[in-house]
Amino acid sequence: MKGIKIIKKEANELRKILIQEKQLCTEYKVMSDENFVYMPLIKDYNAKTIDNIINKFDVEIEDFSFNKAQYRPKNFMDYLSDNISKEEMEEIKKSFDTIGDIVILEIPAELESKKKIIGKAVLDFTKRKSVYYKKSKVQGVTRTRKLEFLAGVDDLETIHKEFGIRFKLNPSTVYFSPRLATERSRIVNEVKENEVIIDFFAGIGSFPISIAHVKNAKIYSVDINPEAFKYVNENIKLNKLIGEVIPIEGDINKVIDDLPLADRIIMNLPGTAKDFLDIAVNHIKEGGILNYYEFSSDYDSVIERVNEIASPRKTEILDIRKVKSQSPGVWHIGLSIKIE
Ligand SMILES: C[S@@+](CC[C@H](N)C(=O)[O-])C[C@H]1O[C@@H](n2cnc3c(N)ncnc32)[C@H](O)[C@@H]1O
Repeated sequence: MKGIKIIKKEANELRKILIQEKQLCTEYKVMSDENFVYMPLIKDYNAKTIDNIINKFDVEIEDFSFNKAQYRPKNFMDYLSDNISKEEMEEIKKSFDTIGDIVILEIPAELESKKKIIGKAVLDFTKRKSVYYKKSKVQGVTRTRKLEFLAGVDDLETIHKEFGIRFKLNPSTVYFSPRLATERSRIVNEVKENEVIIDFFAGIGSFPISIAHVKNAKIYSVDINPEAFKYVNENIKLNKLIGEVIPIEGDINKVIDDLPLADRIIMNLPGTAKDFLDIAVNHIKEGGILNYYEFSSDYDSVIERVNEIASPRKTEILDIRKVKSQSPGVWHIGLSIKIE
């Protein structure tokens, strides 16, 4: 097969370029002898690209017989091992969020200078359309973050598929977390037929649409972010719904009085949901359920707060759970609370 023979001291540079240009055939082993290294080229190598490379190194394409490699690059590590330590790669990998055909990751400050190499490796490894990295924390009333483009196609609008549902969104203008899929499914299972539900902080309608997809319920999907309102309208059209989703753009404090009392209120704004607990308790029917979320390191303080704000109405904690990790020692906690 075709390959390139090069003196040892230049081999590493050539190898990096061949990998970067996707011209090195990783199914076969790179060989070496005392003075030279031999690199196998992919079958359909790009003649123009290879011409440029061989001119640069003053080498030739020749026929060699290479041995089959025992493994092909399988994971992210293999793509980046020349540039970044194993520990650093593990950290980056843990931060991957895949939303539709976009991968969003975190890059620690000390690796900022290698962000493009990392982005390219993630693109190759994940085979998604685009790679971005988190340029800020989730911030502001709309709970959105700045994203910086790293590799692939610079297009932030995507369609995320989850349990047969399609969510269209732009992750830099609206909040959406694929890590809440299990929680959404859990709430869907709690809902009974014909419930009237208000999602106080609905974003693109991820909870309302998940519910209406399989349950005959009426769900008011409230959000203060006009972009979220735009997407919930699109998502209603994109999916076959059994129930009814009614999108409302506005501050829940201002729109609540126009809404009927609810069998269930969903409150996924864990940083500040506690400031809205009183209006939720006042707007829930007798025996209705609050799906309430907070960031906390323990259960007791959350339960205490709920009981205090709900008083004199009696509460029954039907369930309390760790939804996901927020930061070391702090959890995104979910509660299902019956309000008598
Ligand atoms: C953490 S996001 C959750 C979105 C959605 N529930 C989800 O899980 O994908 C919180 C949402 O609350 C909205 N929000 C914040 N304050 C609000 C308010 N006072 N009234 C209505 N929506 C609000 C934000 O725009 C944001 O979309």
